[in-house]
Amino acid sequence: MLNFTFHSPTRLHFGRGQVRQLTKEIPAGSRVLLTSGGGSIRHNGVRDEVLAQLAHCTVIEFSGIEPNPEYETLKRAAELGRQERVDWVLAVGGGSVIDGSKFIAAAIDLEVGIDPWLMVGNRTPINSARPLGVVLTLPATGAEGNNVGVISRRETLDKQSFRSPYSYPSVAILDPCFTFSLPPRQIGNGVVDAFVHTLEQYLTYPVDARVQDRMAEGILQTLIEVGPTTLAEPDNYDARANYMWAATQALFGLIGAGQPQDWSSHAIGHELTALYGLDHARSLSVVVPHLLQYCRADKAAKLKQYGERVWGLQGDDEAIIDAAIAATRDFFVRMGLPVTMAQAGINAGEAAQKVETNLPRHKPQPVGEHGKLTAQDCAAIVRSSVDSMEA
Ligand code: NZQ
Ligand code: ZN
Repeated sequence: MLNFTFHSPTRLHFGRGQVRQLTKEIPAGSRVLLTSGGGSIRHNGVRDEVLAQLAHCTVIEFSGIEPNPEYETLKRAAELGRQERVDWVLAVGGGSVIDGSKFIAAAIDLEVGIDPWLMVGNRTPINSARPLGVVLTLPATGAEGNNVGVISRRETLDKQSFRSPYSYPSVAILDPCFTFSLPPRQIGNGVVDAFVHTLEQYLTYPVDARVQDRMAEGILQTLIEVGPTTLAEPDNYDARANYMWAATQALFGLIGAGQPQDWSSHAIGHELTALYGLDHARSLSVVVPHLLQYCRADKAAKLKQYGERVWGLQGDDEAIIDAAIAATRDFFVRMGLPVTMAQAGINAGEAAQKVETNLPRHKPQPVGEHGKLTAQDCAAIVRSSVDSMEA
């Protein structure tokens, strides 16, 4: 097992009715910037439930944070927060609203004169931030329990992350009932994103990290079990609860502690979203099966373990690996996601060229658990994202 330090300052309140905890968590008299997306929280009643818990605070609202949150929007929100001298930021929504709010909470505290865009890619240090609360409505990214934010700037085709010790939410409310209104597309996306987060920290090479491996296998098996149920039965509380907790745990830091990590499918996926506007999870589903094939020699031992323990496969090593990659691809298809560039409406050859040009702007060093996948390798993976009939 590799050395690690694990710390989580986020208090998670999980379950039905837990929104009530906001009253205790946010001190009386606080000025709260309530941030949200395009309107889902108005339609499903979550906004009303949250506001009912904030009668002891002054609430200033900022809505309109878009999927793949846009820098210009977030800058306006931070200016509002600064003018209104807010004490707290409260994000109510999915990963985009949460990530955007991590940026806003830090930008409000940024020294005047420093360009907030420099926080992205960690080019200027974040030394403080307003306390951040989260009410999660879309289980997927794990943003409710980690210190990462991913911000987009469409004008310059950038989509990049930042992280800081000040960017963990202080408190997060996870009520599975708040996800009942999700459309099937977002459920499929959420299950696959959480699945891929787990793979990125598990499918590398063995370091005898048994607890982390078995936790990762448990998360993967849970998502395989509850993914189809939660799609078919939108108001099945137990399926939603297990999906929600699996997604939080997939990127909470525990399964990746002491493990080598990959994250190359995310590096490629962020470029595809910046170039073509693909949903985050779809930018992964069109890459992962092909990346596993491309890297199968380096990942052989863990691919075999994955095939045997997660999918119950038997046989010789190469047959297990073939079947494990096929099972992964078929699971993404069952969740309604594309698994080739053509299925996502994109020309693989053209995308490969663009990824090869753009990726080094954001990832100057080779990626992957061995730090050896170059931009040319990533382009080759994108080019191979075709089905056997197209190839
Ligand atoms: O904007 P609203 O109206 O709220 O609608 C959203 C949005 O259109 C809708 N939605 C959310 N909750 C809903 C709902 N609709 C009905 N009922 C509900 N309960 O879903 C749509 C997508 O929302 P979004 O927040 O964009 O999705 P997701 O949670 O998948 O977040 C994706 C973003 O997170 C980043 C991605 O790159 C992307 O920008 N990620 C963040 C990570 C992190 N912070 O650790 C890691 C991930 O790998 C990922 O990169
Ligand atoms: Zn992701």
